[in-house]
Amino acid sequence: MDEERLISTGFRSEEDDAESTLRPHSLAEYFGQQKIKDSLSIYMQAAIARREPLDHILLYGPPGLGKTTLAGIIAAEMGHNIRVTSGPAIERPGDLASILTNLNAGDVLFIDEIHRLSHAVEEVLYPAMEDFALDIMIGKGPSARSIRLDLPKFTLIAATTRAGMLTSPLRDRFGISFRLELYTPEELAVIVERSAKIMKIDCTHDGALEIASRSRGTPRVANRLIKRVRDYAQVRAGGRVTDRTAREALNMLEVDELGLDRTDRGMLETMIRKFGGGPVGLDTLAAITGEDAVTIEDVYEPYLLQLGFIMRTPRGRVATPPAYEHLGLAAPQPPVDGAQQTRLDI
Ligand SMILES: Nc1ncnc2c1ncn2[C@@H]1O[C@H](COP(=O)(O)OP(=O)(O)OP(=O)(O)O)[C@@H](O)[C@H]1O
Ligand SMILES: [Mg+2]
Repeated sequence: MDEERLISTGFRSEEDDAESTLRPHSLAEYFGQQKIKDSLSIYMQAAIARREPLDHILLYGPPGLGKTTLAGIIAAEMGHNIRVTSGPAIERPGDLASILTNLNAGDVLFIDEIHRLSHAVEEVLYPAMEDFALDIMIGKGPSARSIRLDLPKFTLIAATTRAGMLTSPLRDRFGISFRLELYTPEELAVIVERSAKIMKIDCTHDGALEIASRSRGTPRVANRLIKRVRDYAQVRAGGRVTDRTAREALNMLEVDELGLDRTDRGMLETMIRKFGGGPVGLDTLAAITGEDAVTIEDVYEPYLLQLGFIMRTPRGRVATPPAYEHLGLAAPQPPVDGAQQTRLDI
């Protein structure tokens, strides 16, 4: 299901090449997330001046906002190598131990999807992060003893879409933690213009802004939409991406002016028509859309929440009046209004 969605913020393997060509390599090319960049440059300058590695950093936030990109940039700006791995890829404690012992001083170890590390592997990470040490058991049974190996001083950068799933001992070991926010249309327009330039697409500022405002606050989506708009512009508009061609192309692809697609609209509409606006449980939403509950929570909800189209309540998700309005449906009258209405009618 996810595969077919143009506005999916999730990573798709066929985009691997495109992502690497469009991926910024320096902080200067990394647009938006200004607060994070400001703090980061101070921490980096201070660490460089002290000739120390940077503190361990946790990056969290919805998919496609630039966590992996930022990790690469931090390593590059610190002038060190980056070793990239992910929670599910590190199966056994020994796997992590061998990665750690192969690092050089100052290197960045990037662990994506850190929330998926197994408990046993996490145990190895604690002393590594805190004391740059590795505790190894030698021998078995009564004669077993533990020896401590020193590790080079490295920086762990971890990324997750689900900070809530990290155990607190792990979370507490990060000296720095940043939450990436959805981008504004203006910030995304700059990213679209940069990508257009790299891909040699003739794109006006208004065209970039039109694409940006339909990209759900997410650079990955923006980069995907500009390619589809380019195709349309090439066939229908002599290759030039203007706000009009962008609008036409994206309307044709059923990505509306706020970046919602058929699945989002279908989900909101079902919540409203079949469930009186909610509350609707996450599992029910999953059944309606055919997505799994985790995908809904991580990938689709952040944007709908940011738009103020849904609210999370303890009993489930509720569609808000702006969602009704966006779908052209009559918003429910609050009960108090209803009572007044009845009185007036009499
Ligand atoms: N601030 C930015 N400026 C310019 N381009 C960006 C920025 N952030 C992300 N991108 C672009 O968006 C793409 C996706 O970013 P990235 O892979 O870093 O996201 P992510 O947060 O790691 O996603 P996931 O959670 O799926 O791993 C990158 O290829 C890059 O081209
Ligand atoms: Mg990533």
